[in-house]
Amino acid sequence: MEYILYEVNGAVAKITINREKALNALNSQVLDELNATLDAVDLDTVRCLILTGAGQKSFVAGADIGEMSTLTKAEGEAFGKKGNDVFRKLETFPIPVIAAVNGFALGGGCEISMSCDIRICSDNAVFGQPEVGLGITPGFGGTQRLARLVGAGMAKQMIYTARNIKADEALRIGLVNAVYTQEELMAQAEKMAAGIAKNAPIAVRNCKKAINEGLDVDMDQAIVIEEKLFGDCFETEDQKYGMAFFLDKNKEKVKEPFKNC
Ligand code: CAA
Repeated sequence: MEYILYEVNGAVAKITINREKALNALNSQVLDELNATLDAVDLDTVRCLILTGAGQKSFVAGADIGEMSTLTKAEGEAFGKKGNDVFRKLETFPIPVIAAVNGFALGGGCEISMSCDIRICSDNAVFGQPEVGLGITPGFGGTQRLARLVGAGMAKQMIYTARNIKADEALRIGLVNAVYTQEELMAQAEKMAAGIAKNAPIAVRNCKKAINEGLDVDMDQAIVIEEKLFGDCFETEDQKYGMAFFLDKNKEKVKEPFKNC
């Protein structure tokens, strides 16, 4: 891998997009390597992922403008599909993904963060969809996910004006959950990831699936999705252990890690 770093620390893994000279811009090779990295995550042991960018300045400064500059219509569409396929893999990845946005999150950078379950950022983060200033539309899910996250009115304003917003505004409109200093950001992401990883893994995965799939259908269908995933947790060792632990009145007991089965 030239542009992706992958580290595992217990049940938490970190993916770093590592193309600092180009502010971690996404070219085809970065997308291919990210795709391969996701395919190789050991889901028996890893329970939460953190996605970040290398360096102190940029999370991801977008899709690679140099690579896109000479594309034909058909190639442009194929490039959009390549990005969308990887981002959809991230969005539907079985375990939660936290975007630790450590600087510029523009175009494809904002879009990849929106494919993650949770976004937190540093106080130097800048979000935006500058594509119309380049003569294109957002092409890695921005026209779809931004409106779903912050509402159609705010998404249209950001996309039509191509105006970037700073971390405090991203927090105000609900694009990120929290803002930290650059120094604090990774520790906070790791703390959140560890907090997620200590909970029952099958239950956490089923929550992600229920929320994601439920948002795509009407409420009558959504609650059926929830019922099935709720039922699916019963008879697991994690459910038996979690409930038995609660019901055991022994005050000296110590909670064991969940087994993921
Ligand atoms: N693609 C390719 N290269 C990029 C890039 C991108 N998206 N963003 C930055 N770079 C490169 C620059 O070309 C520069 O390379 P050189 O050193 O070889 O010249 C290097 O990264 C450093 O960038 P700058 O010198 O521009 O750094 P700066 O601090 O002056 O500006 C910035 C930072 C405001 C983020 C600026 O780099 C910028 O505006 N980048 C482009 C942001 C953008 O428009 N992103 C959207 C891309 S379109 C897209 O993503 C489509 C989609 O939805 C799929």
